[in-house]
Amino acid sequence: MSTTLFTGISELVTSDGDPSGGDVERLGILTDAAVVVDDGRVAWLGPAAQAPAADVRRDLGGRSVIPGFVDSHSHLVFAGDRAAEFVARMTGAAYDGGGIKNTVDATRAATDDALRALVRHRVEEMRAQGTTTVEIKSGYGLTVEDEARILRIAAEVTPEVTFLGAHVVPPAYAGDRAAYVDLVTGPMLQACAPHARWVDVFCEPNSAHAFDGEESRVVLEAGRAAGLDLRVHGNQLGPGPGVQLAVELGAASVDHCTFLSDDDVAALAGSDTVAGLLPGVEYSTRMPYVDARRLLAAGVQVALATDCNPGTCNTSSMPFVIALAVREMGMTPAEALYAATVMSAKSLRRADIGRVRVGGPADLAVLDAPSYLHLAYRPGVPIASVLPTH
Ligand code: NIG
Ligand code: FE
Repeated sequence: MSTTLFTGISELVTSDGDPSGGDVERLGILTDAAVVVDDGRVAWLGPAAQAPAADVRRDLGGRSVIPGFVDSHSHLVFAGDRAAEFVARMTGAAYDGGGIKNTVDATRAATDDALRALVRHRVEEMRAQGTTTVEIKSGYGLTVEDEARILRIAAEVTPEVTFLGAHVVPPAYAGDRAAYVDLVTGPMLQACAPHARWVDVFCEPNSAHAFDGEESRVVLEAGRAAGLDLRVHGNQLGPGPGVQLAVELGAASVDHCTFLSDDDVAALAGSDTVAGLLPGVEYSTRMPYVDARRLLAAGVQVALATDCNPGTCNTSSMPFVIALAVREMGMTPAEALYAATVMSAKSLRRADIGRVRVGGPADLAVLDAPSYLHLAYRPGVPIASVLPTH
């Protein structure tokens, strides 16, 4: 194995310390830096002037290097699109989860190979924008066979696979919701658990299609008993029990958090559950942006992710999410980058990714810009991509 010295790095962000509270230096910023990669791992980092020799030398020409983004919430295994729903929302239609059935129909009709090609294309699209780890949920199958095959296909591209059979109650079960919960927590879970690390539920009493607090509890507890760790979609469309349930059950994350009471914020702050904020959803559903300052001020652990899906947010772009977080949610650029790397990794209970560290994986993104500040400063400009390290 040969070693590669990356030099010409105007700014290296390591994400080594939490910058919330305004201490940008804690983000871990080195100017005029160099990095040595050996067999996919960071072997050395520091000032360019002190860089050791290596087999291969690559000059990045004054670009910046940051930890690859960790996208801790996506629904990449789907077929079809729902652009018409998006357009209707832009002129006033509300989102209620009812459109999910259209994606379920299209996904069930797609062959394994067609779905595989779609997922691989979307993962490539993410990498082209700097994402090195992605979590992928099921949820567009809603039968034992279709959920299991979605998870199998997801597991081909990531270890962070989430069983979301409890995405919505399929129309055929509308008159007997309990029967669908029984299916999800029985045969579906049994078929799906071997392919997944996580279980998730769309806990949303404000949608006739999603699950209320008690149904969600049953799903999460069954998932845990089957060996899965917990994630929750909570408080997306209105106030609800999702956040409190996630905290009570020790979920790794509760995502959306668009409508939070003061009690919800206090519960999150006193817990190890990360609040996963998904501002692309607010953009695409015209919901209010989350006041991230309120959460950070209370001591809540905040992550950012895309939620890439055909209904509420069809973007694969973590830079877009960062730009929204800075412009609309009151986060500093440093906090937003930290939330998109270290904290998003934390929401996956992963301490090995999200930072640039000697001994850690060389999951790096390069920015065609002199500073990470350009992620928010140059919205929509494709400056970020994964740095090829071998
Ligand atoms: O995270 N809220 C539930 N699930 C997805 C949307 C799914 C869809 O509309 O297709 C979300 O927003
Ligand atoms: Fe989601």
